[in-house]
Amino acid sequence: MSTFSAVSSCCALLLAAPSLSPLLSLPSTPAYAATLASYWSLQQGTQHPSCILTPSTPSQISTALTILSSHPTCHFALKGQAHAPAANFSNIDNGVTIDLTHLDTTTVSYDTYDTTGDAIARIGPGATWLSVYRTLDAHGLAVAGGRNGAVGVGGLVLGGGISYFAPRVGWACDTVSAFEVVLGDGKMVRASRSEHPDLFRALKGGAGNLGAVTGVEMRAFKQGDILAGALVQEWSDREKVFSAVEGIATGKGREDGYDEFASLVMAVTFNSSSKVWSVSETLAYTKEVERPAVYEGLFEIKNVTDQLHFTNLSTFSAEKALPQLDWIFYTGTYAAKEGVLKAIVDIAQDVLGGFEPEGGVFWAMAFEPLPTKITQWGDRNGGNVLGTEPTDGDAFVVLVSPFWTNSAISSDVHATASKFVGEVDAQLGKKGLVHKFQYANYADPSQDPIGSYGATNVKRLRDASKKYDPKGLFQKQVPGGFKLP
Ligand SMILES: Cc1cc2nc3c(=O)[nH]c(=O)nc-3n(C[C@H](O)[C@H](O)[C@H](O)COP(=O)(O)OP(=O)(O)OC[C@H]3O[C@@H](n4cnc5c(N)ncnc54)[C@H](O)[C@@H]3O)c2cc1C
Ligand SMILES: *[C@@H]1O[C@H](CO)[C@@H](O)[C@H](O)[C@H]1NC(C)=O
Ligand SMILES: *[C@@H]1O[C@H](CO)[C@@H](O)[C@H](O)[C@H]1NC(C)=O
Ligand SMILES: *[C@@H]1O[C@H](CO)[C@@H](O)[C@H](O)[C@H]1NC(C)=O
Ligand SMILES: *[C@@H]1O[C@H](CO)[C@@H](O)[C@H](O)[C@H]1NC(C)=O
Repeated sequence: MSTFSAVSSCCALLLAAPSLSPLLSLPSTPAYAATLASYWSLQQGTQHPSCILTPSTPSQISTALTILSSHPTCHFALKGQAHAPAANFSNIDNGVTIDLTHLDTTTVSYDTYDTTGDAIARIGPGATWLSVYRTLDAHGLAVAGGRNGAVGVGGLVLGGGISYFAPRVGWACDTVSAFEVVLGDGKMVRASRSEHPDLFRALKGGAGNLGAVTGVEMRAFKQGDILAGALVQEWSDREKVFSAVEGIATGKGREDGYDEFASLVMAVTFNSSSKVWSVSETLAYTKEVERPAVYEGLFEIKNVTDQLHFTNLSTFSAEKALPQLDWIFYTGTYAAKEGVLKAIVDIAQDVLGGFEPEGGVFWAMAFEPLPTKITQWGDRNGGNVLGTEPTDGDAFVVLVSPFWTNSAISSDVHATASKFVGEVDAQLGKKGLVHKFQYANYADPSQDPIGSYGATNVKRLRDASKKYDPKGLFQKQVPGGFKLP
């Protein structure tokens, strides 16, 4: 064992398993460095696991979890495409990081689904959405996945998942027909409406609390090109933009409410160094229509940039990667009522406008409609545990995501983000405009998205955890991610 004398005891246990030893990389090897460099945020990329295991089959994961679960002091993290910003979510200091990115294949099958002509895509959770779209575009098919192609399948689906198609099919997790999972004791199971339906439901929003997902089967539907691109207006026209976006989000003036082919994100940004504010939208229309009527209110406002064009997902989702940076995600969900966007942005100007940290911070705020057209899908396919329901009404999911380059200001940025969201909650709360839902994939570790799902769903998650992970492996030996309250 002398070669391994510098290796932590948990990594030594994995190295001793013949099927796992070739899959391990140790600090100061190129493979180890490459994995750390693949994290989206600096907070995760600067953590140092004792070793990184990169399995490519479920049975290798089963072997690893069997070993780790019999040693309660062995802590680990599960990593997909590493787009969660907060430390510990998919990396760990002095523990084992299990990198799932070699489980990355997409295969299409036409004979497993119903009579709608749809297909089933069986996708490895470590895949990027870009690789999924490249496979599916060639078949004229799409799935409800991430809008940025670099994001991973596993994290996005297990936390819910907002796609361009959400109003047509629901949360990404609502389109899953089965999960393949390795449980804490190493057992491999399939969860679907008919097999372990309680686990199936709990996985849809329960993030990494139940097991290591090794395969996701998703409904793949026929899809041609989409209209998509950025539209940018003058900051001085922002109030016109806000009311147009509120109109779209609530289906104003439309007999059948929210247009199910419409998908938009309104972005408001603030650069603390230049003091420049901006407003823009990423608009999509998931049907080949040149000037969708639903966007007329926005089109009437003078634009400074218009990049709308027909495209496909494999082209449009291939966004340019950013360097690894310090990032925070913070979230809130607010009623899509007239005036709500102005109210939030007014608070942003108040709280963020006066914060001038050394080196500067760039604030990006995304406002994403969560109409009842999306939440109505929640209970149709075996249910999810997100607790978002049509009775909540139309809403906006808000993502506050600052990035900065001077690590010395990190705690000040965090405090300011927290103060901002706290102020929005307080002021909008008085008007009854705050929804309880917090989207886990956009939430800060100080928030409680799983608690926000409501008591019934928390109980569903606890029951599933007790039944499928009786030793509490994913509660006790995985420090990162949102745990069951
Ligand atoms: C640039 C960018 C664009 C984004 N765009 C969208 C978007 O369009 N829509 C949207 O809804 N969200 C979006 N997000 C948020 C995204 O959904 C989350 O960041 C998500 O957690 C990323 O998943 P991942 O697998 O890449 O990340 P990871 O950091 O690898 O994983 C995230 C969490 O999920 C767990 N996990 C991952 N895979 C598994 C598995 N197989 N089994 C068990 N647990 C697992 C990890 O342990 C970790 O806690 C975006 C984020 C970024 C940074
Ligand atoms: C997607 O769009 C790109 C760029 O226009 C094009 O080259 C590619 O052929 C398209 N793919 C499919 C499958 O249509
Ligand atoms: C913010 O503004 C500063 C000063 O004008 C500029 O150097 C920097 O590139 C801007 N940051 C971003 C992300 O645009
Ligand atoms: C954006 O502005 C240009 C120039 O005025 C105009 O031709 C174009 O139609 C506008 N875009 C949209 C989507 O309305
Ligand atoms: C990461 O997890 C470790 C172990 O539980 C904990 O000590 C540390 O504070 C966590 N880091 C952050 C940033 O939460």
